[in-house]
This record gives sequence, structure tokens and C-alpha cells, in this order.
Amino acid sequence: MSIRTFIQDIAEKDRWKAAQRREQIFYSRRSEAIDKEEYFRLHQAYWRTMLAELPELKFSDDGLYIDVGCGPTTVLMSVPKGEKIGVDPLISFYRENFHLAEDVQFIEGKVEDLNRLVDRKADAIFGMNSLDHIDNLSIVPAVLARQLKPEGYLVVLLNVTKSRVLGGIYSALGLYRILDPTHPHHFDSHKHVSRFFSGSFETLRAINVSHIRSSQTETEEEREVVVRKAPLIKRMIFAFLESIKKQETYLFLMKPKGSE
Ligand SMILES: C[S@@+](CC[C@H](N)C(=O)[O-])C[C@H]1O[C@@H](n2cnc3c(N)ncnc32)[C@H](O)[C@@H]1O
Repeated sequence: MSIRTFIQDIAEKDRWKAAQRREQIFYSRRSEAIDKEEYFRLHQAYWRTMLAELPELKFSDDGLYIDVGCGPTTVLMSVPKGEKIGVDPLISFYRENFHLAEDVQFIEGKVEDLNRLVDRKADAIFGMNSLDHIDNLSIVPAVLARQLKPEGYLVVLLNVTKSRVLGGIYSALGLYRILDPTHPHHFDSHKHVSRFFSGSFETLRAINVSHIRSSQTETEEEREVVVRKAPLIKRMIFAFLESIKKQETYLFLMKPKGSE
């Protein structure tokens, strides 16, 4: 990311458009730096570790599993059975630049349109690191609840600000535009996430998974090209913004309301 892109992102009125532009730049850089097979394998191992936190999830051959905002390395690569569908607005770009899971059907589109894109109800829907990227987030809980079987699960992975007070201040003053222009939405605590979904979902568990580092998915080439070779000033700005944001990562297991 250049300083110009950074300023462009902050000034962009349409936060979603800015975030998606940045997302594409991020993944372009990755795709140039990585060994695609190794990148795939590292993510598969990462998702396996993440799913091990949720023994409640049982997969079956006749189950349907959907990942919204699936990206190029969907969690579905670690779902061992069933029919799998990944939905993302950038699928064509990912198809051209990454090794995608062969047993997943990918659909280019937004989660907001999920009920139109998939005509069956799912046993589990995943939204991993994606719900804070979504354009029209307010309609998403109802859309997801409609797409799930009554006994199905919603699994969400999100970064949330560690301190509610700090998160509240950042939101009230509009500081996220500067601190984190790539995400159109922010949650200021894990309780905020549960509250946001509470019209349609009951949160069964909210697990702090900050110890499962996403950096374990970086390949050596990627670290070399994307991290070590980046100018020092850029690395310092990035580290500074990260330290101010003070985020931790939560994994949520939710059930549609009225299912029992
Ligand atoms: C940070 S990536 C996460 C990718 C993947 N889930 C992972 O954890 O590796 C966020 C993804 O959300 C997608 N996204 C953004 N807006 C979306 C929307 N309205 N509906 C579905 N996906 C969206 C982006 O294109 C991007 O691929």
C-alpha cells in the first residue's frame, strides 16, 4: 500500500469500495510472493486448528456448508465432508491468482444476496474475518438466519477492540477511518458482536482465539517479499496503527433463535 492509496482510502466516501480495493491490493501482493501450494496447505492447517475449538460442529456427507466472504483460502478447505459453497465478490480475481479448493463450489456475489444465490438451507454457515468487510451489514443476521436449517450453526471469526471504552471513542470520533480504513465496520467488544446478532441468533460461545496466530499462514517467501522488504517507515506506521487499535480475535458459535 502506498501513502497515496492510504489517503485515497481515508477520503473515499464509499467505505466498502475502498476496503475492497485494498483487499485486492493485499491479495495481489500475496499471490506474487507465495508458493501457491504451500499457502494452501498452511491455511488448511490454520483452519483445522480453529475448527478444533468447536467440537459441537459435526459434518456429514449430506450436509451443506457455506462460507460467506470466503476469500482465496476458505475455511471450507478443512471441512472434511458434505457439499461446500463459498461466496465472495472477488471470486474471479481469486480464481485467476490462487490455488482454490477443488471440492468447493465458488459463487461470485455478496452475502447480502445469499438467499437468491443459494436455494437450499445450510447445516452451518461460516463468516471468517469477513463480516466487518461487508457492504450492508445491518441486513446480514436476518439473511443468514433465513439460509440456515433450524438446527444449523453460524460460525463467525472477528477481530474486536480489546477495550469497549476505547472502541466506543474510536467509533464516536470516526477515528477508524484513519486507524483502519480497510474495514467498513468495527466491533468494540465480543459482547457487541453478540448484541448485533441477537435479533436472529443466540451466541452459545465466544472464544478468544488470539493465540491462534494468522501469521502462521505466511509462507517464507511472503514474509521475505511482503514484510521484510517493505520500507521501514511503512512497517513502523503499520505497527503503530496496530498497537493503537488493540484488537483481539474471537470465534463465535451461534444458533438461530427459536431453533429449540
Ligand atoms: C479478510 S478477507 C477474509 C477471507 C477469508 N474468509 C479468510 O479468513 O481468509 C474478507 C473477504 O470478505 C469479502 N467481502 C467483502 N464484502 C463482502 C460482501 N458484501 N459479501 C461477501 N463477502 C464480502 C472480501 O472480498 C474478502 O474476500
